[in-house]
Amino acid sequence: MEQIEKVLAIETSCDDTSVAIVEHSGFVLDVASANQDLVHSPFGGIVPEIASRNHTLTLLPLIETVFERSAHSWELLDGIVVTSRPGLIGSLLVGVITAKTLALGLGKPFLGVNHLEGHLLSPFLKDREAAPPADFDFPYVGLVVSGGHSSLFLVKGIGQYELLGQTLDDAAGEAFDKFAKMLDLGFPGGVQVDRLSQRGNPKAYDFPRSLMRERSLDFSFSGVKTAGLRQVESMSPEQLSLEKENLCASYQEAIVEVLIAKLDRACRDCGILRASIVGGVSANSRVRFLGGEWAKKSGVQLVIPPLRYCTDNAAMIGFAGLSRMNMGERSTQELAVSSRSLATDFNMPLS
Ligand code: KG4
Ligand code: ZN
Repeated sequence: MEQIEKVLAIETSCDDTSVAIVEHSGFVLDVASANQDLVHSPFGGIVPEIASRNHTLTLLPLIETVFERSAHSWELLDGIVVTSRPGLIGSLLVGVITAKTLALGLGKPFLGVNHLEGHLLSPFLKDREAAPPADFDFPYVGLVVSGGHSSLFLVKGIGQYELLGQTLDDAAGEAFDKFAKMLDLGFPGGVQVDRLSQRGNPKAYDFPRSLMRERSLDFSFSGVKTAGLRQVESMSPEQLSLEKENLCASYQEAIVEVLIAKLDRACRDCGILRASIVGGVSANSRVRFLGGEWAKKSGVQLVIPPLRYCTDNAAMIGFAGLSRMNMGERSTQELAVSSRSLATDFNMPLS
């Protein structure tokens, strides 16, 4: 089977439309994304029908943009990669139908990939501005923290993932977003909590750190969310407006401390001194700061991708798909979208 050197990648699993051209080495030639924050903002959350409709408006112009900016044409590409799971069905369909049509029309191979696998492999992405340390390699412990997931994986190689722990209820990103909603901070919430926290005292309020003392590597964020709600409900509008920064900083600290503590435990349990934190919440400034401190103290090589590769983007999808295509995987025109991961996605035999 021919070696795949360069792909066009498409990501439309949620509310961000993103297109990238990625090389075999993980080098990102270009990535262009359009977020839909303004259109979802009046609703305080993502409206699936609006998300898919906006993908149909922005996807083709974004494809044209990356071709123009990178001075590439279809002849220079060996294949197409698209997120086909997990995500919002209507949103995924826009990307997958577009990828299928392009593959059919151009006679190029294509592959549908798992969005989480894209996040897990994002530490390998590089571009003209940034690159991970040259010796960063498998195996590593990967903490995926996004709007829908909080999971710890042992990443042994492409397609070789062992789930070590996951959230029993809410995802970390969801806990951030819901707290932002309680405080009426606007959409998207995680970034607002991060921003206000920078002027707050993380010790002002004592929010619970769930499952901290348990040996398990699972997470639970429903406790901190409920405690947050009780605290907010107990305060007057005047108190809330005075205490917003302290509340955010304390709430954020409770989530971030748990994330780093579990990552630490996972590295110890696996006897591995290499780790990564990926997914939208890895853009959080406190995650990046406390993660860096922890890594220094414990001698762990920690890679947190640049901000542009933390939140949803097509570059990570391109690298994951290209790597799998070079292991011989291809999709057919029968490829279906799925709101969930497939059982086989994270169950591959470990070497
Ligand atoms: O990976 P992502 O872009 O989309 C999903 O796959 O879910 O993650 C989105 C999540 C949202 O919950 C958002 O609030 C959170 O990542 N997020 C943040 C920050 N930036 C994005 N949470 C806390 N602090 C941030 N700076
Ligand atoms: Zn994501």
